[in-house]
Amino acid sequence: MIEKAVPVVRGVSDRTPADRTVEVWDLPLRLWHWALALCVVTAWFTPTVYDSLHRIAGYTVIGLLVFRLLWGFWGSRYSRFGMLGVRLRAAPSYLWNLRRGITGRYLGLNPAGTLMLVALLLSLAVSTITGALSVTVPFFGVWWIEDPHVYASDAVIILAVLHIVGVVLMGVLRRENLIRAMITGRKRVRHHP
Ligand code: HEM
Ligand code: HEM
Repeated sequence: MIEKAVPVVRGVSDRTPADRTVEVWDLPLRLWHWALALCVVTAWFTPTVYDSLHRIAGYTVIGLLVFRLLWGFWGSRYSRFGMLGVRLRAAPSYLWNLRRGITGRYLGLNPAGTLMLVALLLSLAVSTITGALSVTVPFFGVWWIEDPHVYASDAVIILAVLHIVGVVLMGVLRRENLIRAMITGRKRVRHHP
């Protein structure tokens, strides 16, 4: 779906129209994102080798998931889940159109990014909940808890790699530095009339 109006309200910088930027990712969401990336990478490299670090990273991800759910309701415009359903339904046709390089104009997550958000949150939830259960007495050594932990964790890593490829690809197609935007929080308005 195309953004109908530029959010010309709070946070729009007063530079020349061509490089005017607007805050898209609020600070808590940016901190959340980079903390999540750090914890996921840490959890991935530490099982068996550094078990306690693995568990700390995993439990931190549980906390981050809870925060993201709350922020989906209380965060700023582009952190909220309001457009989630609409954008998810648009995802198949969006991905289909991408083959011809059609990206549409979005300030927040595009439909493919929204699909990735949901897929990552779900696989992270399965990975961390089964991980946490696998160290409790009733579920210790239980295969139907341990196997999903391994598979969901594999899914998290595969999705994260696809996510990074997607971010880089979209940045090239839209000639926009999306990675910098996830650091500064700001995107140029020019591409989103
Ligand atoms: C394990 C690692 C990572 C995970 C789990 C992850 C997860 C996510 C999630 C869930 C979002 C959606 C934000 C939201 O909640 O609305 C997101 C957005 C984003 N991520 Fe990551 N991320 C990871 C690594 C990275 C890395 C390494 C980069 C940079 C190369 C990156 C760049 C971005 C960007 C630019 C966006 C915003 C996309 C846009 O503007 O459309 N991420 N990430
Ligand atoms: C995003 C979070 C997590 C990721 C990506 C992750 C990933 C992994 C991976 C790849 C393995 C190795 C499986 C194998 O090949 O045998 C593993 C094992 C394991 N994980 Fe996790 N995990 C996460 C969270 C957690 C949590 C929250 C806990 C519990 C506190 C946990 C506890 C375990 C345990 C007990 C093992 C068995 C091996 C060992 O003792 O190190 N994990 N995890």
